[in-house]
Amino acid sequence: MQSRCDRKANSIFETRLQPSSRRIPQDLPIGVFDSGVGGLTVLRELQRQLPHESFLYFGDTAHVPYGTRSQDEIQELVRQILTWLVGQPIKMAIMACNTSSALALDAVRNEFDIPILGVILPGARAAVRSGCKIGVIATPATVASNCYKRAISEIKPEVEVFQVACPEFVPLIEANQILHPQTRSIVWKRLQPLVEAEIDTLVYGCTHYPHLAPVIEQLLPQSVTLVNPAVQMAAAAAQELELLNLKSNQTAPETSFFVSGKPEQFAHSSQHCLGFVPAVVAAQLQGLKIRTQF
Ligand code: DGL
Repeated sequence: MQSRCDRKANSIFETRLQPSSRRIPQDLPIGVFDSGVGGLTVLRELQRQLPHESFLYFGDTAHVPYGTRSQDEIQELVRQILTWLVGQPIKMAIMACNTSSALALDAVRNEFDIPILGVILPGARAAVRSGCKIGVIATPATVASNCYKRAISEIKPEVEVFQVACPEFVPLIEANQILHPQTRSIVWKRLQPLVEAEIDTLVYGCTHYPHLAPVIEQLLPQSVTLVNPAVQMAAAAAQELELLNLKSNQTAPETSFFVSGKPEQFAHSSQHCLGFVPAVVAAQLQGLKIRTQF
């Protein structure tokens, strides 16, 4: 019998074709979400590859980090976010979050009437093109799900995969501590076993981690290729829009930002990635049984 991840690896873009005959307006924004600032690394790539699309970004900063939560909690959060996004409305949802893609995509994708894309399979596809000793750094929940290992082995069984959970990284990034002196030794503690295993490729298995690129690039041998799944993810989104006839040709597309936590904190932490201080709006997720951080 096939496991969840096996079925996921067999699907083309971790999405499904539009099931209903409902016509979705092409100029609606694409919804992109994450637990916090991590998804901005995906948004940046989407904006680069899809310059005529509008985006609506949601950061669930009241519930970050996701990577140490249970599968039930992650699925509940993802359902609430998708319900909120669909109500805006949007034409497609992108889980710019590996933890959500690993633990919730299969459960929720048929519950909504829009295409929903995840980031794991694009990441696995990009990784196998790059090497045969692949390291994956990810949240504890993503590593425990084994989704990357399974997706990579499904595509290329002979590849060796080494996964390392990095629970400290997301809190560091959300707190804007990337250049803090202690960050380097925390990052090295997680990378060292991978360097010792002589990996040739390292996958950012969490969308937050490319924010640490200045530190990670310094610590890794130059022979190691870094793979950011966002690049392949954006290409998959472009292909999916084309296939579903949902591509927009707007000349002045817009991007708006919403968070469940404190807008000022998100605006501050996202500045280095976006290159400007965004206008951020607070948004409440309704009916959640999960406690917020505040
Ligand atoms: N950036 C997300 C991911 O790719 C979530 C990280 C977290 O909140 O722990 O997994």
